[in-house]
Amino acid sequence: MKNCNIAKVEGFEVLDSRSNPTVAARVILTDSSEGFAISPSGASTGEFEAHEKRDGDKTRYGGKGVKSAVEGINGEIAENLLKAKSLNQRKLDELLIKIDSTQSKSRLGANAILAVSLAYAKACAKSYQMPLYRYLGGISHLKMPVPMMNILNGGAHASNNIDIQEFMIMPVKMTDFSEGLRMCSEIYHTLGGILKENGKATGVGDEGGFAPDLSGDEEAIKLIIQAINQAGYNTDEIKIALDVASSEWYKDGVYHMPKRKRQITAEGLINYYEGLVEKYPIVSIEDGVAEEDWPAWSRLTERIGKKIQLVGDDLFVTNTARLKKGIANKAGNAILIKPNQIGTLTETLDVIALAKENGYKAVISHRSGESEDTTIADLAVATGAGQIKTGAPCRTDRVAKYNRLLLIENELK
Ligand code: PGA
Ligand code: ZN
Repeated sequence: MKNCNIAKVEGFEVLDSRSNPTVAARVILTDSSEGFAISPSGASTGEFEAHEKRDGDKTRYGGKGVKSAVEGINGEIAENLLKAKSLNQRKLDELLIKIDSTQSKSRLGANAILAVSLAYAKACAKSYQMPLYRYLGGISHLKMPVPMMNILNGGAHASNNIDIQEFMIMPVKMTDFSEGLRMCSEIYHTLGGILKENGKATGVGDEGGFAPDLSGDEEAIKLIIQAINQAGYNTDEIKIALDVASSEWYKDGVYHMPKRKRQITAEGLINYYEGLVEKYPIVSIEDGVAEEDWPAWSRLTERIGKKIQLVGDDLFVTNTARLKKGIANKAGNAILIKPNQIGTLTETLDVIALAKENGYKAVISHRSGESEDTTIADLAVATGAGQIKTGAPCRTDRVAKYNRLLLIENELK
């Protein structure tokens, strides 16, 4: 295997889809191969995520500037990486972790570290003259993912009155990715039409899903089922997935729904989900209970984990140690994979491997703050994860990932 040593590393401050600054990096190898990547950014971030470094200077971007993170790339990171010999992805990521030297990557920032880690992978793929998905995955794992497509937004991603953050559809019987995407897009349009007919708002939330005011979660689910049927499909071929993002609600052992101003216990929530799963074609629930509420996670998994997928996002934060704890506690049966929660590509691949070894499913995911960067599309195919969560087929930051997957599918044929 050849070495991919580095000739130049540069950082940049660019904008994400919410018009907040984020970190971009360019890596140029000694053979002139180039890679460029942009870190995403979450809104409903998990408490145990790697640290996103922001300037805090209120005179620029309300304190959200990332100049200090960019300076870290142009200074300390570049200096160290240029000196390093016999580099490969794992060595590079280990070096970045070592230079940072903090548990949460708070000194240099996971936003700076991830941009460099991903840009390096892309440069190496170029150097090997391979598309990124093939470079990352080799030939054995390649598999197109089923979209877990968010078409109705609430929670921290929308200013409507719905507390559940994401209502998603999954074309579980799709034969091709392009067919699955078409079905979802048709349902998305149909849902927009239904909302319009009913005098509801058709503005969209951060991930491109509609964000109307509704009477409650069940109305959202019923409208989606109506859209599935009206678009000419049925609930055998299109299933529903939820991301409750309930860590956002959890305080002093109780769940406080901020929009409905209701309080509920973990037990109450679990009963509620059990009822929803009985009544509706729901196949996956993410963050049904909170990141700190391990006993509730174990109970939830015991109650409905045989029936549906239970995804830990804030619970696991793409972190091997937290996933190990989850495996030991029988908490959840799937992990959401967001590379910027952990900060390097190698650690991301390691946690996916750990999930697979232990029978946990992996869902590759965007963040609510995104960009034109499409790395997660390649990552989903490369790891054969089988599922990708990358928003509605609306807003170019989301569509870019779907379009990348269409091109990959075409190449694989
Ligand atoms: P976030 O939302 O990027 O705001 O964390 C996505 C999710 O919760 O899955
Ligand atoms: Zn989530």
